[in-house]
Amino acid sequence: MARAHWGCCPWLVLLCACAWGHPKPADLGGQDVRNCSTNPPYLPVTVVNTTVSLSALRQQMHTQNLSAYIIPDTDAHMNEYIGQHDERRAWITGFTGSAGTAVVTMKKAAVWTDSRYWTQAERQMDCNWELHKEVGTTPIVTWLLTEIPAGGCVGFDPFLLSIGMVFPQSLNLSMPTRVTLSW
Ligand SMILES: *[C@@H]1O[C@H](CO)[C@@H](O)[C@H](O)[C@H]1NC(C)=O
Ligand SMILES: *[C@@H]1O[C@H](CO)[C@@H](O)[C@H](O)[C@H]1NC(C)=O
Ligand SMILES: *[C@@H]1O[C@H](CO)[C@@H](O)[C@H](O)[C@H]1NC(C)=O
Ligand SMILES: *[C@@H]1O[C@H](CO)[C@@H](O)[C@H](O)[C@H]1NC(C)=O
Repeated sequence: MARAHWGCCPWLVLLCACAWGHPKPADLGGQDVRNCSTNPPYLPVTVVNTTVSLSALRQQMHTQNLSAYIIPDTDAHMNEYIGQHDERRAWITGFTGSAGTAVVTMKKAAVWTDSRYWTQAERQMDCNWELHKEVGTTPIVTWLLTEIPAGGCVGFDPFLLSIGMVFPQSLNLSMPTRVTLSW
């Protein structure tokens, strides 16, 4: 009897320690969202661990000599609501909202999406990803210009971006930026 009693006690102590040590969920309108400022980060169970897929993508980028890679939310017909087969952005980020662009550099990974999806993104993305609460191409291009070295190449699937997205009118093309398209 005494033996059995001692046998289960360490487990109880361990369970209690785990419960206390676990960071509390961040309160974002009562939603269980990630908190990357705690140590270790707090991640809800809805989060997808993207560490392995990101490192595989970066390996490919290295092979192709790319400083950044853009993963849009569209399919080849510029649809917003797309077939599972085309859900590249959802696969690499874990974030399944219908709108949102991902950009991966060798050091950072970021998603831009609109206010409909901010909470969902905080519930689905792990701390490999920054969430940028902005829409449109200009914030992405501005970010890219600060993140990649001069002359660095940016890769994307040419079937998934329209000319309007690659050369937005809001981007001052007389800036000393060179866009080279190659695939
Ligand atoms: C994340 O945790 C820190 C430290 O506990 C806290 O100050 C911050 O408000 C939390 N962030 C969110 C989004 O809840
Ligand atoms: C994510 O997966 C990697 C590789 O399996 C692992 O090392 C890491 O600890 C995981 N991260 C989290 C937060 O679970
Ligand atoms: C890789 O790209 C850089 C520009 O970022 C260029 O200077 C270099 O020659 C390229 N290397 C190869 C192997 O293509
Ligand atoms: C675009 O950039 C060029 C060179 O930096 C500058 O002279 C010009 O005024 C800019 N045009 C606009 C509309 O911002």
